Amino acid sequence: MARKLAAGNWKMNGTRAALEELSALAQAHPDPSVDILICPPATLVQTAAATVANGPIQIGGQDCHAQASGAHTGDISAEMLLDAGATSVILGHSERREDHGESSDDVNAKTRAAHAAGLVAIVCVGESLSQREAANTLDIIGEQLATSLPDGCTAANTVVAYEPIWAIGTGKVPTTEQIDEVHDFIRARMIRRFGENEGRAIPLLYGGSVKTDNAAEIFATDNVDGALVGGASLKATDFSPIIKALEGKA
Ligand code: 13P
Repeated sequence: MARKLAAGNWKMNGTRAALEELSALAQAHPDPSVDILICPPATLVQTAAATVANGPIQIGGQDCHAQASGAHTGDISAEMLLDAGATSVILGHSERREDHGESSDDVNAKTRAAHAAGLVAIVCVGESLSQREAANTLDIIGEQLATSLPDGCTAANTVVAYEPIWAIGTGKVPTTEQIDEVHDFIRARMIRRFGENEGRAIPLLYGGSVKTDNAAEIFATDNVDGALVGGASLKATDFSPIIKALEGKA
């Protein structure tokens, strides 16, 4: 069984004032039965980590460079995130793939950097609407997984997030059958590549318009071990019921 994880991706939202939401979340969940992770913008990683220090909530980054250091203006390495107090990093989010032209090969290199630094890599995959309409979803996901994930992925160092691009920030959610189909497919690929034990234990998150009112239904799907939540992770009052819905599954 994979561990359960409720992860929030704040994207490019939040200044220091947003740390109040983190404090409120920590107060509401002093002893959660699932893992909780918040990935704020890089400028807040260190203060966010200090805000939740000694509690169960963990802090992650939203991207890292493939190199440990060097002449890469504006970039941040996995080691720097770790040093700032992060335990995880989101990699290959569709917004990075789109805005920064990141390929699955790039994501593979970044994932290796995260693993080398001791961070958990949350590797995102997902099809566009046109790819789904052309019935290419599983081919696309299969290719993204094969290329983005390096050898040596384990349940301790890797999480996979399935985020259909057309469901991100749109309020459109796939049917439970569609989520079920993709998550079963990803689970089978994880087992085939990383072995029965690790393959079964790598957490698989669903992401894309997860809200208070649809979380329990999404979590009822067999191979969904949690969620990667954008908009609804920004306010503790929105994210907290999603965490509780996942605790209902754990
Ligand atoms: P929304 O929850 O805002 O749709 O965003 C999902 C996402 O991209 C999380 O990484």
